[in-house]
Amino acid sequence: MAKDNKKGIFEYSAAPESTGHISIKEQYDLFINNQWVKPQQGKYFDSINPSNENKLASVARANDKDVDKAVKAARKAFPTWAKLPAKERGKYLYRIARIIQEKSREFAVIESMDGGKPIRESRDVDIPLAAAHFFYLGGWADKLEYAFPGQNVEPLGVAGQIIPWNFPLLMAAWKLAPALACGNTVVLKPAETTSLTALKLAEVIQEAELPEGVVNIVTGEGDTGAALVNHPDVNKIAFTGSTDVGKLIQRSIAGTGKKATLELGGKAANIIFEDAAINQAVEGIINGIYFNQGHVCCAGSRLFVQESVVDEVILKLKQRMGNLVLGDPLDKNTDIGAINSKGQLQTIKKYLEIGKKDGLEMFQPKLTIPKKGFWCAPTLFTGAAQSHQIVQEEIFGPVLAVQTFRTIEEVIQKANNTPYGLSAGVWTDKGSKIFNLTSKMRAGVVWANTYNKFDPTSPFGGYKESGYGREGGVHGLEAYLKLS
Ligand code: NAI
Ligand code: MG
Repeated sequence: MAKDNKKGIFEYSAAPESTGHISIKEQYDLFINNQWVKPQQGKYFDSINPSNENKLASVARANDKDVDKAVKAARKAFPTWAKLPAKERGKYLYRIARIIQEKSREFAVIESMDGGKPIRESRDVDIPLAAAHFFYLGGWADKLEYAFPGQNVEPLGVAGQIIPWNFPLLMAAWKLAPALACGNTVVLKPAETTSLTALKLAEVIQEAELPEGVVNIVTGEGDTGAALVNHPDVNKIAFTGSTDVGKLIQRSIAGTGKKATLELGGKAANIIFEDAAINQAVEGIINGIYFNQGHVCCAGSRLFVQESVVDEVILKLKQRMGNLVLGDPLDKNTDIGAINSKGQLQTIKKYLEIGKKDGLEMFQPKLTIPKKGFWCAPTLFTGAAQSHQIVQEEIFGPVLAVQTFRTIEEVIQKANNTPYGLSAGVWTDKGSKIFNLTSKMRAGVVWANTYNKFDPTSPFGGYKESGYGREGGVHGLEAYLKLS
């Protein structure tokens, strides 16, 4: 396990993984009414560390009866929570934010152990941003009438929230903070491979003394999620995950009157013009696709390079890829951590085979891959075209497909030629090009001369098969309110 005594920031004992300053319980039950409740069928599943396949904890598997118990708890808590002076609700959110900050190191370590992401990312991005979301939305709690002037604002009721495994605590924050700020109560379903930080958050909820039943956390797999979606007493479904499950959810709630926000997949174009600051752009491309092993819905997985600079860009990219450090997620020098699960690694490997079979040239730097755990070297495919499967489909791994272009019209057309529309990036020295491009890209977020910048004040969400509804900013509040 990682040791960094130089600055004294991280110190963990070698084994077992639950010792030291990091407390992971052997077994987690369901969190209902601020209490730990055994699952009705007594079933549990393992959460493992994907970097060494060691078991971290047993986690309860909730069935529909458990979900019902959680929804009932949320329903019972709703009237009181909704009527609480908004300022008081805000205070609870601030309290949660502060406790997350106090425990940020523990959260970061657990996040990296349970999900495989580099500690630098969980420490510097995921955990601080999760706290920032609670602070930001805590601030909105008593200002909702200013967010929607002239309108009557009311909470929706019970929100069922289903989150993925790529940013576990951050996605919990994206979901919980706006729901609570607006006066809703919640049943949250974390992803099966990464439930541990959500369960640590349950401890924070207890410590913050939220009224019982306001936040309930039910762990389990897809069937637990489906039970939540199909529960008749849930008023709102918020989902982040695959487009396939998103479509399924949409079908099952059709005609029920449940409100929904779906944040689904992406296949973002990252575009480099010849007038860009190339070294800076190369850094941005690397961050855009290899951040969090490419397990990012807004990952810049399709690179478009203007023809005149393609040789330079590819050479520099390959050099930079050769310097990336792959390995122990708990080592602060690590750039590329473990792939989140065996299943996801198989998906990624399948796409690498497809790319090769389609005749694309594949580059991977020479790296030592650890013997245990799930790993994929950063990968670059050149010679890609619009029709290639690895260009069309979301891989959700550290795999970049490079295409070239000559004119701005051509690249806009190519960039938009995808079923998705979540995000995009553009690298150029010319402000006019940025404005031209951002207005024509069918993408929810367009970054200019930067990438993967997140802030609780800016709305995030997609077009087309990337889903609908926005999270973050004022827009994110609307998803949890009845406006009249
Ligand atoms: P998934 O969509 O199955 O899982 C996301 C969440 O949905 C998990 O909590 C899961 O338990 C839950 N879930 C699964 N089936 C459900 C159902 N029928 N009803 C309600 N909830 C359900 O995603 P998975 O299988 O882990 O990953 C597959 C692909 O999805 C990835 O390769 C990636 O392309 C994409 N994905 C996109 C994400 C994003 O942030 N947009 C996040 C995770 C995956
Ligand atoms: Mg895990």
